[in-house]
Amino acid sequence: MLLKDKTIVLGVSGGIAAYKALDLTSRLIKAGAEVKVIMTRSAAEFVTPLSFQSLSKNAVASDMFEEPKVWEIRHISLAKAADVFAVVPATANIIGKIASGIADDMLSTTIMATKAPKLIAPAMNTNMFENPIVQSNINKLGSLDGYHFVMPESGRLACGDTGRGKLADIGVIFDEIMRLALRDKADLRGKKVLVSAGATSEPIDPVRFITNHSTGKMGFSIAKAAYLRGADVTLVSGRSTCEPINGIKTVNIFTAEEMHKAMTVLSKDADIIIMSAAVADFRPEFEAEHKIKKGSDEKLSLSLVRNPDILSELGRQYGGRKVIIGFAMETRALIESAMKKCAEKNADFIVANNLKTEGAGFGTDTNVASVIEKDGTVTEYPKMEKFKLANIILDKAVDILSK
Ligand code: PMT
Repeated sequence: MLLKDKTIVLGVSGGIAAYKALDLTSRLIKAGAEVKVIMTRSAAEFVTPLSFQSLSKNAVASDMFEEPKVWEIRHISLAKAADVFAVVPATANIIGKIASGIADDMLSTTIMATKAPKLIAPAMNTNMFENPIVQSNINKLGSLDGYHFVMPESGRLACGDTGRGKLADIGVIFDEIMRLALRDKADLRGKKVLVSAGATSEPIDPVRFITNHSTGKMGFSIAKAAYLRGADVTLVSGRSTCEPINGIKTVNIFTAEEMHKAMTVLSKDADIIIMSAAVADFRPEFEAEHKIKKGSDEKLSLSLVRNPDILSELGRQYGGRKVIIGFAMETRALIESAMKKCAEKNADFIVANNLKTEGAGFGTDTNVASVIEKDGTVTEYPKMEKFKLANIILDKAVDILSK
């Protein structure tokens, strides 16, 4: 319930993507937010106010001159209540009105009166979106304090055209609202967080490689949690099934050596370094130039050589000066092995997970972890969402930074 006690005023303007704002409403409600919806008259032609009312459990505002249930000036009270004011989807018309200071209906009037951060997610036909007037309105608003945009994607539009103008993914819009709503709790603002995620892959020949089952879910959750807490986040990612996260710089790598290079350069500026990637300890000594053929041999031997231990190197270089967090992935003797890794790799703490524990490790949305600190303190956590564990890890990092 990250958005408990937060009020999101959601302005819905009239476009075919208006129905997607229903999904957004329901996600915001699930995250604990109070959602108050304002619809323009044309939005109500696409989706009924009753749908938003049923999901948000709040009356939908659209008419400026409707008799108020409680005596209050409705647009002013909504403007004041907002922790974030989102306009999803935003048509060329509403963007134009906001940019020109026109306040002639409930939505435009309330936006004009709010001091909350405003998030605008445009959606419209490509030619409209590319129209220099629309672009100039977007640029004008984007240059002002308090106006944020989640830009549309390219794709096939409802009108049949293909191009830019499709409403951004609702998950991306939701994350951006969350980031703005939690800005007062942004305890990592001004901090640089470097996270590694996913699996490294070690080529054998142009066709084959050695890898592991990491999906990147743990590392991406940490990166996203840090971003929502205001950090400037860089993610170094190996093979992963996760979608890129809006607002996070992502460096994609393939091998452990590439991850080593990227982490070495990027760690110079970082305040917090978190190695959650599953890095191959060994790689084939030689990568064959051509596909290895079966031939008549029954056996094939691969000679493997050690990869650099990235965490150990960073721990040696920055231990005590930056916050260094490692993981330990084990199948037995979890705590003993993690304690050894914490000391050997000079980490502030190690997050240990046992692949044999149900709901822990690779590919799951949950993890079951123990945190082993360098003074030997061990804290065991029950099964929880990786995103929640990510926040526990970051709480500890913030604690260390403050000391
Ligand atoms: O990606 P998911 O599917 O969500 O799965 C999550 C996870 C299981 C990958 C994650 O929770 C996890 O345990 N990551 C660490 C995996 C790992 O490589 O553990 P390890 O015990 O082998 O390594 C110990 C630490 O040293 C790790 O922080 C690792 O990133 C680091 N390391 C390891 C080898 C190496 N050559 N260089 C390193 O920096």
